[in-house]
Amino acid sequence: MKARVKSSLAVSISMISLYAAAAPSGPVVSPRVAEIVASRCALCHGPEGESASAVYPRLAAQHPDYIAKQLKDFRDGRRKSDTMTDMAKDMKDEEIAGLAAYFASKKAASRQPGDVDFAGVGKFIFQRGNPYSGVPACTSCHGVNGHGTQQLPRLAGQHPAYLEIQLKEFTKRERTNDNAVMHAVAAKLTELETRAVAIFIGGLQEHLSPFRQRRLLARPKKQTPPKRGLYFGAKSSNQVDISIRMFLSQLSA
Ligand code: HEC
Ligand code: HEC
Repeated sequence: MKARVKSSLAVSISMISLYAAAAPSGPVVSPRVAEIVASRCALCHGPEGESASAVYPRLAAQHPDYIAKQLKDFRDGRRKSDTMTDMAKDMKDEEIAGLAAYFASKKAASRQPGDVDFAGVGKFIFQRGNPYSGVPACTSCHGVNGHGTQQLPRLAGQHPAYLEIQLKEFTKRERTNDNAVMHAVAAKLTELETRAVAIFIGGLQEHLSPFRQRRLLARPKKQTPPKRGLYFGAKSSNQVDISIRMFLSQLSA
């Protein structure tokens, strides 16, 4: 097992250097970061951030700022976790930045959902929310493709089991850091909606053309009047920021 992790890491490191040779802007992985990945993170998150086990989140292609923030929150005790608190406890800021850049540069994967009808329920929630119970469309913050922004996590291709656990933790406020926005969203999801949206997101990877993006964004705007001040037509991360602030101000009102 150890040998396999080591050799796949060696392969991934040589792939990075190939990549770096082709594209000078690719991240340079310090020996210290490579060592931390191989000796600690790879066991659960995989050497490429692909996480073979469904309960460990995929880190590949996740935004570096989001990864770094979560690691600091684990380290400093803001996000409680039996496993990650220990992993992050002695980490230096430079190591965190290196690990974030390493995993962010990896390629995302997705798995097609087996039950297409069930995933269809999730697609509806993801793209249009549930206007009857006040669930906002996930796309309004996480983006049409679920690719997130610098401030917001990528969801596309994430393991459904991990997504479901997090949504339930947000509902119970057991996810202890920055849970205000997602608590308000997740607490309104039923068990079926939670499962369905997680399964749909797990299979999300395709890049939509700008034309289809505009159509998807236009649809909820026409059929669902913005609820609770949420701006459904957000197209840039700046607008997403504004929509989060509007959403929060409605909550505290
Ligand atoms: C023993 C398994 C294990 C190891 C080893 C491990 N992690 Fe984790 N990691 C988890 C689990 C489980 C979670 C989900 C958090 C929770 O609910 O406890 C997680 C969550 C995370 C998250 C948050 C992801 C998100 O989408 O919010 C990041 C970032 C992360 N780990 C990075 C790392 C890094 C970097 C290392 C190596 C230093 C590492 N992990 C080692 C199990 C592990
Ligand atoms: C108003 C903006 C907003 C909306 C709408 C929204 N989210 Fe989020 N979501 C956030 C923010 C902000 C975070 C990051 C919290 C943090 O920094 O810890 C987040 C985090 C998450 C996470 C944790 C990801 C991880 O890697 O651990 C999941 C899962 C999630 N959202 C799912 C959803 C789903 C499903 C929907 C639609 C039902 C949704 N979100 C709608 C703002 C939003």
